[in-house]
Amino acid sequence: MSSQKSISPKKVTAVDVQNAKGRAKLVAVTCYDATFAKLLDADSDILLVGDSLGMVIQGGDDTLSVTLDDVIYHSKAVARGRKHAHLVADMPFLTYQVGNRAAIKNAGRLLSEGRAEAVKIEGGTPSAKAIRAIVDQGIPVMGHVGLTPQSVHRMGGYKIQGKTPAARQTILADALAVEAAGAYSIVLEGIPADLAAEITAKLTIPTIGIGAGKECDGQILVCYDLLGMNPDFSPRFVKKFSELHVNVGQAVGSYSREVREGIFPGKEHSF
Ligand code: KIV
Repeated sequence: MSSQKSISPKKVTAVDVQNAKGRAKLVAVTCYDATFAKLLDADSDILLVGDSLGMVIQGGDDTLSVTLDDVIYHSKAVARGRKHAHLVADMPFLTYQVGNRAAIKNAGRLLSEGRAEAVKIEGGTPSAKAIRAIVDQGIPVMGHVGLTPQSVHRMGGYKIQGKTPAARQTILADALAVEAAGAYSIVLEGIPADLAAEITAKLTIPTIGIGAGKECDGQILVCYDLLGMNPDFSPRFVKKFSELHVNVGQAVGSYSREVREGIFPGKEHSF
């Protein structure tokens, strides 16, 4: 556990996250299973079961084929492993875009079956109605604007958004629409740092950045990225705080050698 304190010594809630604005930087990280939840819990304010699991767990090229049942499965596992952090689950593609009744039901399943404490929804103005409908049923919603991976095809790839004055205005309007719809926090992904700073200054809810500069109220990274699990993935917005792929490679290499040479299992591992 780091010497820096979490926003709450007790179990972190959506209210704690919202109230952290201007008081403390929020530390968020993605998580997909109980073992990692135990490891990440103490030093994180928020664990997000992101639909990035479509890539880092399922090996896909995008998040579009992730289902609600997939997120529920992983959220349940994370919920069992964590004690302290606030647990947020992503609403996958097409689980909130096709009507408010379906959006409420699907968000509810992430809480009742997945044991999440809030849901995250991509999109600004077009998602505002769904956000309002879900919040009105007592479910906290985290917004997500800028580079929204579920819109990868409309964006023509995973590209930094908000590069023109018009695009900046749209993203600012999106963030304001998400706040007005009742979201308690918002992810700003893949936008220029000065735009993220402007949005952070204009909103009363905390902004959580990824590839959005240091002025956001908090930061989020995919846990496998910050741990350096994938040597082939090194985008500019990721800082690798470790190179765990090296340790894993060395450990499996030693195991493999010892099995082949008849060294493992030794007497001390046998009955
Ligand atoms: O799916 C995800 O992991 C995310 C975060 C990177 C914000 O949406």
